[in-house]
Amino acid sequence: MKILIVGSGGREHAIAWRLKQSPRVTEIMAAPGNPGIAEIAICVPIAADNIEGLVELARSERPNLVIIGPEVPLVMGLADKLRAIDIPVFGPSARSAMLEGSKGFSKDFMAKYNIPTARYRRFTADQAAEAKAYLDTFDGPPYVLKADGLAAGKGVVIPETKAEAETEIDAMLGGKFGSASASLVIEEFMHGEEASFFALCDGETAVALAGAQDHKRVGDGDTGPNTGGMGAYSPAPILDAAMQKRVMDEIVTPTIDGMKKDGRPYRGVLFVGLMIDETHGPRVVEYNVRFGDPECQVIMTRLKDDPLPQFLACAIGGLAGCARLERVSDPAVCVVMAGAGYPGEPKKGGVIGNLDEANKLPGVTVFHAGTARQGDDIIANGGRVLTVTATAPTLQDAVTRAYQAVDTINWPDGFCRRDIAWRALKRG
Ligand code: AMP
Ligand code: GLY
Repeated sequence: MKILIVGSGGREHAIAWRLKQSPRVTEIMAAPGNPGIAEIAICVPIAADNIEGLVELARSERPNLVIIGPEVPLVMGLADKLRAIDIPVFGPSARSAMLEGSKGFSKDFMAKYNIPTARYRRFTADQAAEAKAYLDTFDGPPYVLKADGLAAGKGVVIPETKAEAETEIDAMLGGKFGSASASLVIEEFMHGEEASFFALCDGETAVALAGAQDHKRVGDGDTGPNTGGMGAYSPAPILDAAMQKRVMDEIVTPTIDGMKKDGRPYRGVLFVGLMIDETHGPRVVEYNVRFGDPECQVIMTRLKDDPLPQFLACAIGGLAGCARLERVSDPAVCVVMAGAGYPGEPKKGGVIGNLDEANKLPGVTVFHAGTARQGDDIIANGGRVLTVTATAPTLQDAVTRAYQAVDTINWPDGFCRRDIAWRALKRG
C-alpha cells in the first residue's frame, strides 16, 4: 500500500515512522516532509497549503491513502478535492473542518447539541460596544477572546483586566488577525486541568484512541508566552478509563452524531481540547480536526497494534468492524527542542550533532520538525525543531530517558523545558 502524508512537522514524522512499521505499507511519500521523514519516505517539495499541487501529485501517484497532518489544507478543502478523484483520505471535508476553522461555528454547534463548553456569544466588527458590555456578564477577569478564524494558533487572547479586554476587542475586531478576527467569540473562563483527547471517526462511528497532555507555555512552571506545544505525555492520568468514557459519551459521540445529522459527516481524527474540573466534569475548550503536535508523537510511539486498518477505515468506512487498537504500550513522553528565541524569531542555521547517538538510546525516537539538510549536516531551520520522544515502563523513567537523549544532542542554540510531565509526576 502506498501512503501519502501531507505536512512537515514532528507530527507527520511520527505518523510516517509508525506506518513504516506496518506490514501492509510498501511505500510512503510525504509532501513536503522534512529531513527526518526523508530517511524513511520519499519527500516531494510541495507545500502543505498548495492544494492544486497536492491534488496533482495524488492524481499522478494514486496513493491508497492520504493522511493530512495540519489543519490549513483541511480547512481549504484538500480532502474534498482528493475524494472527488476517488482517493481515500484520512481527514475531514472543509465543511466538517469548520469545527476548527471557525470558533463561532463550533460554539453554535456545541450549543445546538448540548455539548458541554464555556458560555459564549459571537460578535461582528460593528458590535464592539455590545462585546464590551458582554464582559460585564462574567464574574470578572480573566476574559477569553477568540478570533473566529484560523490565526496560526495565536487567535486566543486571555486578558487579565477589563481595560485590557476592551482594548483587545477593538484590536481584534479592527483586524489584528486579519479576516480571522473580523468576527469574535467571547466566552467564560473555565478553571480546571487541560487535557487532549483523540478519537478516530469514519463519519458514522467514533472510537477512542488515547489521551495526552501538552505544555503550551514556553517556560518551566507554565510561564511565558504560548507556543504550539513544548512537550507532551500519554496516557494522561486525569483521563482515566472512567473519564474517557464520559468524554466519549458526553462529547465525542454527540459530536459525531450531530455532524452526521447536519450533513457534515466527520472523518479522520477528532482532537478535543478539554478542561476538566470536579464540578463540571469534562468541557470542550476547542475542537481540532487533526492530530495534536506534539501529542501525536507520544501516541504513535505507544501504539503496539498497526493503526493502518483503522486509519483506512476512517477514510472509507467500516470503523465499527475494525479491530480495536488495544495494545498500547508503556507511557511515552516527548520534549520539544526549539531554536533560541522561539516563539518569537528563532535562531536558525546551527548544526545539530549527535542525533544518531540520541536515537540509539533505549526507548528513544527523535522526530524532526524545523530541520534542514546542509550537506552531511542537519541544521536548525524553524521554531520547534525536534521532538525527543521516549517510552519506558514508568512515566518517570520515560522522562529520564527523554532528557538523557536531549542532553546527548549537541545543539548549542536549542532549548527545551526541563519540567515536562510535572503535573502527572506530581499525581504519582
Ligand atoms: P485554543 O486555541 O482554543 O486551544 O486556546 C488556547 C488556550 O487558551 C487553551 O489551550 C487554553 O489554555 C486557553 N483557553 C481557551 N479557551 C479557554 C476558556 N474558555 N477558559 C480557560 N482557558 C481557555
Ligand atoms: N499541541 C496542540 C495542538 O496541536 O494544537
